[in-house]
Amino acid sequence: MKSLLKVTNLSKSFGAVPALRDISLEVMAGEVICIIGPSGCGKSTLLRCINHLTFPDGGFVELGDVYIGREPMAGGKVRMQSHSQIDKLRPRMGFVFQQFNLWPHLSVLENITRGPIKVQRRPRPEVEADAMVLLTRFGLADKATAFPAALSGGQKQRVAIARALALEPQLMLFDEPTSALDPEIVKEVLLFMRELAESGVTMVIVTHEIAFARHVADRVIFLDGGYVAEEGPAEELLTNPKNPRLREFLSQIDSPVMGCSA
Ligand SMILES: Nc1ncnc2c1ncn2[C@@H]1O[C@H](COP(=O)(O)OP(=O)(O)OP(=O)(O)O)[C@@H](O)[C@H]1O
Ligand SMILES: [Mg+2]
Repeated sequence: MKSLLKVTNLSKSFGAVPALRDISLEVMAGEVICIIGPSGCGKSTLLRCINHLTFPDGGFVELGDVYIGREPMAGGKVRMQSHSQIDKLRPRMGFVFQQFNLWPHLSVLENITRGPIKVQRRPRPEVEADAMVLLTRFGLADKATAFPAALSGGQKQRVAIARALALEPQLMLFDEPTSALDPEIVKEVLLFMRELAESGVTMVIVTHEIAFARHVADRVIFLDGGYVAEEGPAEELLTNPKNPRLREFLSQIDSPVMGCSA
């Protein structure tokens, strides 16, 4: 398998508060990684530093064969890319937020087509045709002209995922995509994400849904206090956690949503 994402010695502090301390990880093409950990351990900051919604203080992020943000130079020096260079690289990663972050004043179709038209400068007819294919696949073709306010939480999140996929990213990042959903909708979105995973999309997912992680993730990373405290194959790490903090974390969390049938 080919390496798609490589994070090396990533660090980020907010004032005196270190949020990420020396994080290194690698994601292979086609892999699904779930990131778990207690509130405040740095999960969102890690995802945001990977796609540079937040700029890391130290370390490197490589996607495929390109660095994003900080680039190592000869003699141990580091070159910082310009904001416009970073803005061009960012769409290689799709980002799905807990709160959907759809544009409320745009229809479902416009939410999906805006990026490909404005950022990638692709022709509108082609982009709209592709968006309709995505919406049909996501069971939302009849919602193309609806506005986000008229959608259920699950529908909003599916539109948000379609919007991210429309930019044809190499990697999808999800930050607790089901945490803002009603319990009965969570399962619908998780099943949908499982289908996406099975279709070969490379995904890094921050989640509290342990049963989902067990069934869908190839590997799980446990973050604690800004460190990678444990990582390993999903089943092994979740069944036989070695780190006492991970054991404690797992004993406090239960996620019946996907159940044993998933
Ligand atoms: N913009 C910010 N300004 C200041 N501190 C921040 C900011 N964003 C995050 N932090 C701090 O960084 C640390 C990590 O936060 P982060 O949001 O990454 O945690 P998390 O693991 O995603 O938590 P949760 O499970 O609650 O979403 C926390 O101590 C948080 O207070
Ligand atoms: Mg978070």
